[in-house]
Amino acid sequence: MIVLSSSPGKVILFGEHFVVKGRPAIATAINLRTRVTLRPKDSWPSIIRSKPLNALLKIDNNLNATGSKSLIHFVKALELLSEKGFKLKPFEANISGELPPSAGLGSSASSAASFISALSEYLGYHIEKKDLFILTNELEKIIHKNPSGIDSTIVVYGGTILYRKNEGFTRLNLNQSKRFSLLIACTKSKRSTGELVEHVLKLVERHQKVLDHVYDAAEVLVKEALKSLEENNLIKLGELMNINQGLLYAIGVSSLELERMIFEARVSGCLGSKLTGAGGGGCMIAVCDNPKEVMSKLSPFAEKVFIADINAPGTEVKLIK
Ligand code: MEV
Repeated sequence: MIVLSSSPGKVILFGEHFVVKGRPAIATAINLRTRVTLRPKDSWPSIIRSKPLNALLKIDNNLNATGSKSLIHFVKALELLSEKGFKLKPFEANISGELPPSAGLGSSASSAASFISALSEYLGYHIEKKDLFILTNELEKIIHKNPSGIDSTIVVYGGTILYRKNEGFTRLNLNQSKRFSLLIACTKSKRSTGELVEHVLKLVERHQKVLDHVYDAAEVLVKEALKSLEENNLIKLGELMNINQGLLYAIGVSSLELERMIFEARVSGCLGSKLTGAGGGGCMIAVCDNPKEVMSKLSPFAEKVFIADINAPGTEVKLIK
C-alpha cells in the first residue's frame, strides 16, 4: 500500500499578525502544493526525506530520532497518533513540492498536514479535517511557538476563508467570476515566523495605547476587504491591500527588500501590493491587470516570481495499490 497526500500553500490576503491577537484575517489556498508519498518499510527505523529542505530524519520504534533538526517536529505526529491508540508501523515518507520553505507561503503547515494525513491513512485511520487541523496545529506550535491557527486551517480546508483565532473560520464563496490571480514575488531572505510574531507582541506591549488603534484599523480593514471580495471590486481590494501594508510597516515587519518589490509592483500598474505571512523577508503579493508585465519588473529584485491561482483545494489523500 502506498499513500499519496498533498496540501496547498497559502497566502494571507489581509490581517496577518493582527490575527495572533484575535483580530480577523482572510487567507486563500494557492495552487502550489506539498506532496507526501508514504510506503511501508520492513523494519524500523522509519525514514522521512524532504526534498524542499534537503533533509533526512530516522525515527526508531521508541520514537528516538536522528538526523536533520528541521524535520524533528514530525516525531510529534507519531506521538500524537500513538496516543490516540494507533499501533505504529515502520514507513518511508518522501516530501516534495513547489513551495519555497520559510517564505510565508505556508510550507510548514502544508507539509505537516500532508504527512499527518498520509501516516494516519497508513495506520488505518481516515482522519477527518477537524482532527487533521488539530494535529497539524500541534506541529505548527513546535515550529512557530504561538501560531494563530490560520495556516493550519487554510491548508487543511483549502478555498478562501475568513478566520478568527479560537472561533474558527467561515468559507468565502468566491465563484468562478470572482476569482483573480495573484502575482507573488519572494525575497532572497528566509525568516522565522515565531521570532517575528514575538517581535510584534513585544512592540505591542511597549506601545499598547498607540497600537490598539492600528489593531482596530486592521479589523475594520478586513471587514471592508470582505465587501470588496463580495462585490468583486479589485480596485477597492488593491487599495485595501496597500493600506494593510501600511499597518504591517507600522508594526515593524516589512523590510527594504519587500518595500522595493511592493513599490515596483505599484508603479508598474498593480492595483495593490503587500507582504504576506510573517514578513521580515519572505514574499509579497500583488493584484494586477497586467501580471506578466510586472513579473519582469520584479525579477531583478526577487528570488522567485510567479503567478498563482487562488481558492485551491485543501488536503487530499489517496491510496495507490
Ligand atoms: C503566518 O502565516 C501568519 C502570522 O499571522 C502568524 C500566525 O497567524 O500564526 C504572522
